[in-house]
Amino acid sequence: MNFENILVTISNGLATITINRPKKLNALNKITIEELHTAFEALEDDSDVKTIMITGSGEKAFVAGADISEFAHFSVKEGAELARKGQESLFDFVENLSTPVIAAVNGFALGGGLELAMACHFRVASDNAKMGLPEVSLGVIPGYGGTQRLPQLVGKGKAMEMVMTAGMISAEEAKDSGLVNHVTTLEELMPLAEKLAGKIMRNSSVAISAAIKAVNDNFKDGINGFETEISEFGNCFGTDDFKEGTTAFLEKRKPNFPGV
Ligand code: COA
Repeated sequence: MNFENILVTISNGLATITINRPKKLNALNKITIEELHTAFEALEDDSDVKTIMITGSGEKAFVAGADISEFAHFSVKEGAELARKGQESLFDFVENLSTPVIAAVNGFALGGGLELAMACHFRVASDNAKMGLPEVSLGVIPGYGGTQRLPQLVGKGKAMEMVMTAGMISAEEAKDSGLVNHVTTLEELMPLAEKLAGKIMRNSSVAISAAIKAVNDNFKDGINGFETEISEFGNCFGTDDFKEGTTAFLEKRKPNFPGV
């Protein structure tokens, strides 16, 4: 896959997307968002890809936000369209992928950058990372799901404080708040993400897809996540992965999941 602003590599079932605009601290402009959508869609459709990691290039930023230069002159209508299109094509899209997505936050994750990390299924961070939603300092609010996903992860009060102060928190504080799961050095960040991906990829990809759907449904209006869990649990009994997983256990051997 060839792109202008992102790099994509695939190795042993693990895909890595690197947002590659380091001179602009990997800020999300229109083309980068479109390329990310295309890449995520292609990786989701590739049955050989079992986990996706996303990070930023350079040592300074994961993503320093949406590209302010692109929307500074937008009208009310254009502003709403920007948020809707971005949410649909990237942020909601990533959250609802059936392939697990890990964000490896390697520096500033601000505004749209933190929103992208929050749309991923979970996050790890390097100890130099700084995270925040600075939008109100620009006279706008988070528009890529930040007001919804931050309270889900850190609780309403902490989210309100972060949004209202527009401040940044450290990686350690993000870990203490539940925003990231692990913190390590910058050098160890990708090895840690790869290690976690390796653990994921030992399991049934079909069951993992079902689990992502069930967990996500807990946060969707008008959908009963317990019902999703019941039906997805039932569906697992019809899969080859379930036969292999249970048979391997009873035969006291490691499973070799076919992924169907
Ligand atoms: N949109 C567009 N360009 C951005 C950007 C963004 N969100 N974040 C950084 N950049 C650009 C800067 O304009 C600068 O470009 P230039 O060299 O052509 O002038 C380049 O990236 C480097 O950023 P700079 O501000 O010089 O780095 P710094 O180390 O002094 O500061 C930050 C780093 C992250 C604190 C600062 O860049 C910043 O506050 N960025 C905006 C964060 C934000 O508000 N994001 C939410 C957007 S809704």
